[in-house]
This record gives sequence, C-alpha cells and structure tokens, in this order.
Amino acid sequence: MKLLVKNIGRIVGIESTGRLRVCGAEMDRLECFDDAWLLVDNDRFAAYGRMDELGEIAADQVVDAEEGMLFPSFCDSHTHLVYAGSREQEFLDKINGLSYEEIARRGGGILNSADLLHETSEDELYAQAMERVREITAMGTGCVEIKSGYGLSTGDELKMLRVIRRIRETSPLEVRATFLGAHAVARAYRGRQGEYVDLICNEMLPAVAAEGLADFVDVFCDEGFFTVEETARILRVGRKLGLRGKIHANELAVSGGVQVGVEYDALSVDHLERMGAAEIEALHGAVTMPTLLPGAAFFLGMSYPPAREMIGAGLGVALASDYNPGSSPSGNMRMVVSLASIRMKMTPAEAINAATLNGAYAMGLSRDYGSITLGKVANFFITKPMSSVEFFSYAYQTPLIRRVFLKGGEVFG
Ligand code: NIG
Ligand code: FE
Repeated sequence: MKLLVKNIGRIVGIESTGRLRVCGAEMDRLECFDDAWLLVDNDRFAAYGRMDELGEIAADQVVDAEEGMLFPSFCDSHTHLVYAGSREQEFLDKINGLSYEEIARRGGGILNSADLLHETSEDELYAQAMERVREITAMGTGCVEIKSGYGLSTGDELKMLRVIRRIRETSPLEVRATFLGAHAVARAYRGRQGEYVDLICNEMLPAVAAEGLADFVDVFCDEGFFTVEETARILRVGRKLGLRGKIHANELAVSGGVQVGVEYDALSVDHLERMGAAEIEALHGAVTMPTLLPGAAFFLGMSYPPAREMIGAGLGVALASDYNPGSSPSGNMRMVVSLASIRMKMTPAEAINAATLNGAYAMGLSRDYGSITLGKVANFFITKPMSSVEFFSYAYQTPLIRRVFLKGGEVFG
C-alpha cells in the first residue's frame, strides 16, 4: 500500500540524523523541507522530495496537501485519560478558594475519581475513554501513554489496565500503559500508608506483570503523597518485573522525586513545577527525560516549570498534556505547545520538538515515532496553509489541523 502526499507547503520536524531525543540548544532547531511530496510505503515514511522534481510514482492513494504544512503527530507521554465521569464540583471548590492539596486532604480529588471508577463497569469506562481518544486523535496526537491510578485496589487497577489494553488494540493510536497504583493511598488504607505500599509491591505489581498489562511503573512522589523511600522500593520491585519508572515528581514540593527517578534510571520524571539547582544538576547526563505539563500548571493556577533554565543547562525536555479529571481536563497538545511558549518562554521550535521527538523518547518510542524520518511509522497531520511554523503556536485556537494520518491511514479529515 503506497500513499503519496503532494503539494506540501513545508514538511516540519524531519530528523535526518537519527537522534532519539534533542537536548539544550539543539531543541531550537526544526529541520524542514519546502514545496514537497512525501511517500508512505507499508505504513512507514519511504521518501520525500521537491514537487518540481516529482517523477512518476505508482501510488494506491494520492492526497493533496493543498500547500498546508505536514507535521509529525504529537507524542503525549503523560495522560490519565481512562477515568470515570468528571470532577467539575472540585473546579467550583477551587474557584471558591480551596487548593488542590486541600481538596485531596478532604478526601476528594483522586479518591473521588477512584470511588466513581469502582462503580463503573469496564465497558462503560472503555466507552468514556474512547471519546477522549477520538478527541485527541483529531487534535493531532498519534502516540499516547495512559496511566492507571484511579483503581487503588488490585481489582480496580487491573480493570483500568485492561481498558488501556483494549484501547491499544482498538484505536489507531500507539498506546503505552503505566501502572500507577501509588497515585494516592486508597480510602480503605487511610492512616496505613505502609500497608498500602506493601499491597502495591506484593500483590498489585506481580498481578500487573503476570498479565503483561503495563510497560512502566509510576509513583506520585510528592508532599502529602508518597515518600522517596516508598518510591525507591516500588521502583526496585518494578525493575525486577521489567517495568521502568516514570515518576510524578516535584509538583507540590521539592520532593526528592527527581533524584530518586534518576537513580533508578526512570524513563522520565514529570511535572517539575518545583525545581532547584540540585534537581537540574541531577538530570545532567541522565537517561531520564524531564517532562513538563503546563496544562496542569495552567488549570491549577500554579507556577510553571523553569523550562528556560533546564534547556539553558543543556537538558532536553518533553511536553505532555497530563489529561486527567483533576488537574488537566484537556488532552489538547496544541494548547500545551502554545502554553509552553506563552508561559515558559520556550520557542515554538523547542516546544514542537518537546511534544514530538522528546515525547516519543519519554515513552521509549523514538526509534519508530516522533519525527518525519525515513523508516519511521507514518504518523502525521496536515494543516491549512500557514505563513510560518510559529503561526501554529501563535494562533492557538484556530482549527489549523485539517487531516490526520496514523500508521499510514487517514483517521480524521
Ligand atoms: O498528574 N499529580 C497527580 N496526578 C494527576 C492528577 C490526578 C487527579 O487529580 O485526578 C496529575 O496532575
Ligand atoms: Fe499526571
């Protein structure tokens, strides 16, 4: 099956040197190619060239990009998009002055979602999550990581992970699953956090691994949630079972989460609203990708991660949506990319690299996804004609994405 896309105004985000992530000053460079055609063969990028040099190509399908730009699909490496219902009551509580932590202390927040999820059947949960999957697919996401963590009992965590597996099997997205039993202490274990961590290590993790339901393990390592020691223990058990870490760190406090993540070769440490010099230093030369979630800082009215300091120190960063009912009820990666520029002063090029190649790296997917590279899987979208790449970040609400292709097939347009 050969697909030819012609009349492309500009191909954006070509990675011709085979890098699996981009760091520091390299983040500000986006390799582009103008007035182009692009050939997809058997779901993979096969060739591209200039329109005025397009010879005879036998293709099964020809798509006219009508001078729009062609981007690699977003790689959203941090979401919680499987959840039951919604939490707009807490939205009102926040408007009336309560903080995220206060809501959690009163037994709302994550525990509220866990109660709802417990009452919801696997089929219903799948149906609700698929609406969000379709929504993000139309908005340009091609790879997505989805976490459990609203189950908080062995049965309900497995239920969530089976829903994620079903999404993986039935949606055109490339999906990775993360076990996040350590998202909050389950209601039934209130005041017995140590016993809940025992349950995670002795029962949940082995059960998850036995069914092969997760690729990664996550811990909410933060003030009021799980400690550095508990995080290290969970990471050690995960490692024995073949699950790499992806840690929620430093959202609410300088928690030590960055250091423990780096120590255990976590694939990413995420959030990072509270970062000191020691945290940036710890990430230097590490395999761990710092992942920023500006949609959560926006929604909670918090300070943003110090992206400029991090990139200035030579680090690569990824951007993700954190799509979840409590701190970021949106999976719109374009909004994330624009927020990164508006609130964290990342350039549009840095933000696009962070939301594509570096996001793919943070899911262990950048050999096959995250850029327009010959041989990679053909995940891309075509925009309306634009005056520049910057326009894509600047005109942040204009519906610019016209057609979406995943694994070489059109899924929206
Ligand atoms: O990434 N910080 C922890 N977990 C989620 C929020 C989960 C929720 O409030 O439901 C986050 O922000
Ligand atoms: Fe999160």
